[in-house]
Amino acid sequence: MPTAGWWEALWPDPAGVLAAVGIKPGMEVIDLCSGDGWFTLQIAKIARDVIAIDIDFNMLEVARDRLNESSVANCDFVAGDAYELAKLVAGPADFVFMANAFHGVPDRARLARAVRAALKPGGHFATVNWHQRPREETIALGEPRGPKTELRLSPQRTIEAVESSGLKLAHLVEVQPYHYGTVFRQPPA
Ligand SMILES: C[S@@+](CC[C@H](N)C(=O)[O-])C[C@H]1O[C@@H](n2cnc3c(N)ncnc32)[C@H](O)[C@@H]1O
Repeated sequence: MPTAGWWEALWPDPAGVLAAVGIKPGMEVIDLCSGDGWFTLQIAKIARDVIAIDIDFNMLEVARDRLNESSVANCDFVAGDAYELAKLVAGPADFVFMANAFHGVPDRARLARAVRAALKPGGHFATVNWHQRPREETIALGEPRGPKTELRLSPQRTIEAVESSGLKLAHLVEVQPYHYGTVFRQPPA
């Protein structure tokens, strides 16, 4: 998880990112690999309910404190492995959101299958990924930031991995200055 300061500088409008990928009022949303809750808080302000899932219990506690400070109570915090998503939630969701984590998944096709199993018919899965640009070019607060250059994924590699699960690309969005979003749809039943 990035250190505080530059993360906030890089994401001054997290709610705008969520709107761009299609998170809407009334949805049941899973924030997968939720980290310290920077996006979770904004999702909770839009959605009906949120489940924040992270493998790191300490990160979930930071996220819990963040939401408590804003008196936002429509979020459950679940510690667990993203591959086991279907076992971590009680039922399927309208939307699974995953920011800044898909590049680090060892078996992305497996993860995509797990996400598909946790989505309602017609539900959506969005990844927000660093563009495949050299790390020295992605500067925030004066320093190169983000994952190593060789870990970064092109939109095409992301799409291939996720579509292998049966989810279908719905749209691609630019997320300035250094990210893109891929949004996939679970076919209707
Ligand atoms: C770079 S942080 C991104 C956090 C958040 N999504 C954001 O964009 O602000 C990546 C997060 O993924 C979590 N993570 C890594 N592997 C995971 C796994 N197998 N299952 C669940 N969470 C995982 C890490 O603990 C970390 O909090």
